Amino acid sequence: MMHNSFIPVNDPYYPTPNEVVLHKLDLLALKDGETVFDLGCGDAIQLIMACTKANVQCIGYEIFPEAIKDAKINIQKADLSNQIEIREEDIYKADISNANALILYFSRSVLGALSLKLEKELPVGARIVTHQFDIPGWTEELKKEVMQKNGALETIYLYRKI
Ligand SMILES: C[S@@+](CC[C@H](N)C(=O)[O-])C[C@H]1O[C@@H](n2cnc3c(N)ncnc32)[C@H](O)[C@@H]1O
Repeated sequence: MMHNSFIPVNDPYYPTPNEVVLHKLDLLALKDGETVFDLGCGDAIQLIMACTKANVQCIGYEIFPEAIKDAKINIQKADLSNQIEIREEDIYKADISNANALILYFSRSVLGALSLKLEKELPVGARIVTHQFDIPGWTEELKKEVMQKNGALETIYLYRKI
C-alpha cells in the first residue's frame, strides 16, 4: 500500500488495544457536547469507543489508505457517521482550535514534534491522553499504570493545556 507521497508518515498503523482505550477514556472523562480528536486515528476505534462514553463529536485525521478504509467501515458499522468525521489530512495541518480532548498514540519522538503545535493551537483547558509514551516538555496532570489481561504493564498520561 502506498502512502501519500508528500505527507511525512510518522508512526505506523498500530491500533491501541481496546482495554487500553477504555483506561484512556476513563482519564479523559468526556462530557456531552465535547469535541474529541484522534490525530493519526488508524481504524477509528478510539473515537468509536469515545462515542459510547458521552454524546461527543469526533474528528480523526489519517493518511494511511488502509487505515482510512478500516475507519470508514468501522464508523459505518457502528452507525456513527453523524458523530465521527475522518479527515484524510496530515496531522500537522489539523485544525485543533476547537478541541476539548485529544486521544493520541504516537512514539515519543512524534509527540515531541507535535508538542509545539499542541502548545500553540490547543485551547486552554483541552485535555490530551496518551499511552506508552509521554509528551516531551509537558507535565502530566495524572499518570496511571494499568495491567493488561496479558500481564503487560501500560502507562497512561493525562495532560491539560494551561
Ligand atoms: C500508532 S498508530 C495509532 C492509531 C490510533 N490512534 C490508535 O491509537 O488506535 C498511528 C497512526 O497515525 C497515522 N499517521 C502517521 N503519520 C501521520 C500524518 N502525518 N498524518 C496523519 N496520520 C498519520 C498512521 O497511519 C497510523 O495509523
